[in-house]
Amino acid sequence: MIEHDEIIRKASQVFRGETPRMDSTELRTFVDTYIQRKDVFLNACERFGSPLYLIEEAVILERARRFSSAFQALLPQSRAYYAMKSNNHPAILPFVVKAGIGIDVSSGLELQAALDAGAEYIIFSGPGKTPEELSLAVLNEARVTVLMDSFAELGRLQEAAASEGIRIRAGIRISVDNRGLWRKFGIPMGRLIDFFSEAETCPNIELSGLQFHTSWNLNADGQVRFIARLAEAVSSLPEHHRSRIQFIDIGGGFWPVQGDWLQPAGTPEGQLVHAVTPSADLTLQHHRIPSSPIEDFARDIGEAVRRYLFPLCACSIWTEPGRWICHDSMSLLLKVVDRKADDLVITDGGTNIVGWERFETDYFPVINLTRPSLDEHECYVMGSLCTPRDLWGYAYFGSDIQPGDTLLIPTQGAYTYSLRQHFIKPLPESVILTEKGDLEKV
Ligand SMILES: Cc1ncc(COP(=O)(O)O)c(C=O)c1O
Repeated sequence: MIEHDEIIRKASQVFRGETPRMDSTELRTFVDTYIQRKDVFLNACERFGSPLYLIEEAVILERARRFSSAFQALLPQSRAYYAMKSNNHPAILPFVVKAGIGIDVSSGLELQAALDAGAEYIIFSGPGKTPEELSLAVLNEARVTVLMDSFAELGRLQEAAASEGIRIRAGIRISVDNRGLWRKFGIPMGRLIDFFSEAETCPNIELSGLQFHTSWNLNADGQVRFIARLAEAVSSLPEHHRSRIQFIDIGGGFWPVQGDWLQPAGTPEGQLVHAVTPSADLTLQHHRIPSSPIEDFARDIGEAVRRYLFPLCACSIWTEPGRWICHDSMSLLLKVVDRKADDLVITDGGTNIVGWERFETDYFPVINLTRPSLDEHECYVMGSLCTPRDLWGYAYFGSDIQPGDTLLIPTQGAYTYSLRQHFIKPLPESVILTEKGDLEKV
């Protein structure tokens, strides 16, 4: 337990380091790109109703291709696997496969979807894989690499593979933090040598790589630091173990280039204020923590890999981007149903569409496409669920807001659709804006 004095000292440090404000010109430029295309979105709502998920094929293809070329330019042997937990919409997987990247799955359900989508390269990661899930992986060993999460899972995978008479490719997930909640993932780095030795007794396991995953990387610093730590552990392995390492999977967690957009309540200083005086006031104040372009991630990771890992093993580098690929591929479309005051409207969709109270802490512009304007006005924009914690935002861009207006919330592709809930209201239909510019219902 930390002492109260220490907490107060740390809290005052938080107030000294204020989270940067969002540049309003950049925000308007961003909003304008959607206003310029308003007819596409209004047309989608007119034809397919509201609320609506709108997915853009061209964006997924461009992101997937750009991500893998950024890494391949510096690490020609690299391979990206889309983390499908970030958006498991059935229409997205075929686009990812079309873009030529693999799929990272975390359950038997996801594995089956990736197989059905025709993915040639699949990694199966995550804790607590069941015997049935491991058997499905084994039966598809030509396309699947299992990233083992524990010593016991090594035993279960050996059993599943032996019962089919198959040898399956596998890697070891290494824990990035041996304390707290992240301890649940992988094995401690200090036990790597024991794992290699135990795997030697498993004739159906082709141990050929290592995996780690660090989350919320606004730049490559965390990944680079872990690569250096990992290299130390790898260097202490005997040569006959080290030579088995053909891939090192550095996970996902690459932050999209827009950076982290926050409401005041999402900043560290805002969280402290909120803990002492809970409130949810209207605000036009937005924050943005910048993130690095993917090419900078690739450069810094490429340098670290060359410096620390390549002298030890000739391996290819794998990545597991989720949000970087799907974040700006999906928009939400809603209609205003009720205007209860000049500063309070209710929309036809509730936040069960995204599955969590994201907009209390994360900022995204709410754009009134029916009355477009680059001016933002304070207003509670809320959903129609019977709970107060059903909020889209504290402001909208538009000249006014009235019942019947169509609202757009952009960049809702990551950790929304996958988390949607059957709660009170029905879930929306989905529509794809194809690469050719057609709208197709899915
Ligand atoms: C093992 C693993 N890989 C990749 C990802 C994808 O992370 P992101 O969407 O931040 O890229 C996650 C997310 O939770 C993960 O747990």
